[in-house]
Amino acid sequence: MQGDNGPMPLPIRPAVAASPDYPFHAIDAPVKLDQNESFADFPAELKELALQRLRDLPWHRYTDLNAEALCEAVARHESWSPRGTVVTTGSNVLIALLVQLAGMGARVLTVKPNFSLYGLDAGLLGAALTEVPLKPDFSLDMDGLRTALAEPPTRGGVIFLPRPHAPTGALCELGELEALAQASEGWLLVIDEAYHHFADGDARDLACRHPHVLLLRTFSKAWGLAGLRMGYALASDDVARQLRKLVPPFGVSVLQTVSTLVALEHPDYVRERVAHTLRERERMTQALRSHPTWQVMPSQANFLLVRTPDAQRAFDALLTQGVLVRRQDRLHGLQGCLRVTVGTQAENDAFLRAAAAAP
Ligand SMILES: Cc1ncc(COP(=O)(O)O)c(C=O)c1O
Repeated sequence: MQGDNGPMPLPIRPAVAASPDYPFHAIDAPVKLDQNESFADFPAELKELALQRLRDLPWHRYTDLNAEALCEAVARHESWSPRGTVVTTGSNVLIALLVQLAGMGARVLTVKPNFSLYGLDAGLLGAALTEVPLKPDFSLDMDGLRTALAEPPTRGGVIFLPRPHAPTGALCELGELEALAQASEGWLLVIDEAYHHFADGDARDLACRHPHVLLLRTFSKAWGLAGLRMGYALASDDVARQLRKLVPPFGVSVLQTVSTLVALEHPDYVRERVAHTLRERERMTQALRSHPTWQVMPSQANFLLVRTPDAQRAFDALLTQGVLVRRQDRLHGLQGCLRVTVGTQAENDAFLRAAAAAP
């Protein structure tokens, strides 16, 4: 549109205009170990079952208002209250909704390095972002977090903490989380458990005891359903009731509902796959320990972080051999670092062969 003084500016909030794009560029490669996906697809017989059920369901009708049937099934699987369970299309949606719920115009507190979405959503929604650096061994800086909580404006917001941590794979101590929960009343403390299946324990007990603590979980990793887009929050009934108001009505499609219900009816395949990932993670870790120039970090997730002398050169050397990993070297404290997903045995062999020859 043309005004008297040239084109009319579009009504875009400055915070959105100033925000960077999501930092991901798709690259094709035969061995794809860059997105922490499951090494295997959803089992073929379960896909078939979901497709059969889909055939018989009406597609011209809306689904449940708030995915009630799915919330019930997730709650049963998790032994959680259905009223405290909020299901939607990926935990990345829930991250944005939680910033809207508690942090929009207020504060978002997290650590760094970190999963980039917390900071991006804080920026897009005009929240004031505080990132407390992890210690060099990737443990939590509890004094730093306590100081940040006390900084003005002291009105609470939302704290995001991935556990296991992404992208380092470190698992913070439950005792430290308990201390953080006690120090953060008046805030929402969100423990992002996208990778909890691969770790020694989770923060469920903490979330049961503190109404302001909630867990985020996803079907994208251990369940092998990243393409389906499903995630959920396990919260106190009160927090879930408020969060649900922000979830788009009828937002979960019939495909998502049926496929996730089928997965929840057959959870045994997840256990076998997690066992594979833990075995392979250990094998890769041991093999990488003898690399002449790389350092591999201990991991409690389905990926490994390695520090190389030069991330660009190491990344290129792997890609030349057909192995795609993710660069993490631009994140705070992760100079030289690459992240590699634990894949199938053959994919991991290909990675280890390429890594052995990489600088
Ligand atoms: C820590 C963490 N949280 C959340 C997500 C997003 O999960 P979803 O696929 O459910 O949106 C990811 C994805 O990689 C992640 O690494």
